[in-house]
Formats: sequence, C-alpha cells, structure tokens
Amino acid sequence: MTVTDEAVSIDIDRLTEPAGRVESYIRQFVRSRPMPRNLQEAVEYALLGGGKRVRPILVIRACEAVGGDPDRAMPAAGAIELIHNFSLVHDDLPAMDDDDLRRGRPTLHKHAGEAMAILAGDMMMGLAFELLVTRTRPVVLAARIATELIEATNNMINGQVYDTLPDFDDCMTDIQKLQTIHHNKTGALIRCSGRMGALAGDADDSQLHAIMTYAESLGLMFQVVDDLLDVTQSTDHLGKAAGKDVDAGKLTYPGVLGIDASRREVARLRDVALSAIEPLGGPADPLRQICEFFAVRTR
Ligand code: IPE
Ligand code: IPE
Ligand code: MG
Ligand code: MG
Ligand code: MG
Repeated sequence: MTVTDEAVSIDIDRLTEPAGRVESYIRQFVRSRPMPRNLQEAVEYALLGGGKRVRPILVIRACEAVGGDPDRAMPAAGAIELIHNFSLVHDDLPAMDDDDLRRGRPTLHKHAGEAMAILAGDMMMGLAFELLVTRTRPVVLAARIATELIEATNNMINGQVYDTLPDFDDCMTDIQKLQTIHHNKTGALIRCSGRMGALAGDADDSQLHAIMTYAESLGLMFQVVDDLLDVTQSTDHLGKAAGKDVDAGKLTYPGVLGIDASRREVARLRDVALSAIEPLGGPADPLRQICEFFAVRTR
C-alpha cells in the first residue's frame, strides 16, 4: 500500500516490514508460556487480531537509525506491543472508556467477559517484562531497557488516571492539562519505543538525544491525531467507536483548540520531530516516513 498526501508518498509495506516478524516473535513467545487455555486464547485474541504495530516498528527503525542490529531490539519491540495491548484492553473496559469495538472486532471484555479481560491485560504486562528481561542480551542492556519500559508503563498508567479520573490543580489551563494527559497516556510508550531502539542499537549521547526529541514530538502528535480521527472519521473506518470523546466529556485537542488549530499543531510537531533527526542522515529515513505517516494517517 502507498499513502499519498499532497507532498508525501510513503511505501507503507516497506516501512512496516518488521511488523510481521515481531508478530510471529510475540506469538511464539506467548505460546511458550504456561497459562490456562482460556487465558491463552484471550491474550492471543487481544494481541494478534490486527493493530498497526507502530510502536514495535518504531523500536526497530530507531535501532537501525543509529546503526544498530535490529535483531537486538526484537525483545523490546515485542515487549512494547504487549504493554500497548494491555493498555488497550483495560482502556476499553466498562469502568474506563466502555468500548465494544476495537480493531473492527468486539473488545476483549465483550468476547471473553470482564474478568478475563482484566486478567489478560495483567498477564500481558507480566509477559512484556519476562520477554524483555529474559531475551535481551547482554544483561546490562536488559536492565537498562527494562528500566525504560517500567518508567514508561508507569507514566502510561498515570496518564490514564489523568484522562479518566482527573485531579489537576485549579491553576492549570485546559491546554496544560491536555499536554499532561497526552504526554503520559500515549506519549510515554512512543517515547520509550524510540529510546529502547536507540539503546539496543548502542546509540551515542547525541544520537540518543536526537531520537528522544523526535519521539517526544511524535508521541504527542500521535494522540492529537487520534483525537482528530475521533471527530472526523467513521466507526467503520476506524474499527473503533468514533465520536466517543465528546460523548464522554474527554479533554481533547479538537475540543480545546478546534479542528484547524489541532491540525496546525500536528504540522508543528511533525516539523520538530523531523528536524531533531536531521543529523542522523540516511539511516533515519524510515523514522522520517513514520513521522509523515503519523501526520497523515486516517485510522
Ligand atoms: C490506539 O493506539 C490508542 C492510542 C494510544 C491512541 P493505536 O492507534 O496504535 O492502535 P492499534 O494498535 O493500531 O490498534
Ligand atoms: C488510549 O487513548 C490511551 C491508552 C490506551 C494508554 P484513547 O482512549 O484515546 O484510545 P482509543 O481511542 O480508545 O484507541
Ligand atoms: Mg481512553
Ligand atoms: Mg479509549
Ligand atoms: Mg481515542
């Protein structure tokens, strides 16, 4: 598939080529772990039924951008997708966003019941750290990368609390609250993807700094676009309920800034991300394409 916007043409198949490898890797790992059959089925239902796999692709492409061997980043790539899927299963629960549709199919709690969805989410978190720590070598790299993933997971959970049970200081403006929510609930895992890939690729300090700045902007942009898609796309196209954020009274970019200003913010964040990785040269081309794709994606 090729995505073409006025100025951008992205060969999605080429860019997303690591997705299939990561998916087989995760499937093989999940199947190797001891667990009840119904839990295994629930985990596989959530994990292997679609998804763009943008976080693991980012891990692999960040590793390559700093000259690293992508095979060294595979455990981190698998682990971040496990954490992301855990976050989605819990995000959809009745006590959270109460969504019935995800990736064009019933959400896990609709498919297997609420208790199983809670437990499968918990299991995916455990599996993520098991995969990362047991398969990343050398052990010092495993410890370093695991520390990144723990911090990002905690920040993602903080972000879900800011989003769902906000308890902000009265002096904060709506835009400050929004930045805090998005920086954490979505930004944390995307930042961590870039950072883990760079660490697995033995990045030097300046490469790590470039990837960090890039992934920081990219993470925020990803959720601004998610908010925009919620108000501009159909449920059919998204494979998840559209128009939910307004109904649920969520603080979103289009809600606070309006659609046009939110689109300008996407363009600004895209520019910041692209200039950050300019010094990385040709090996960072896939990261440039990921950034362009995030800005123009429609689902
Ligand atoms: C959806 O993430 C949840 C957000 C953090 C905005 P994705 O858009 O990456 O979802 P999948 O994995 O492709 O379904
Ligand atoms: C989800 O944000 C963020 C996490 C799962 C951490 P949303 O609630 O906006 O994601 P969707 O729109 O349900 O995919
Ligand atoms: Mg949510
Ligand atoms: Mg949601
Ligand atoms: Mg959303």
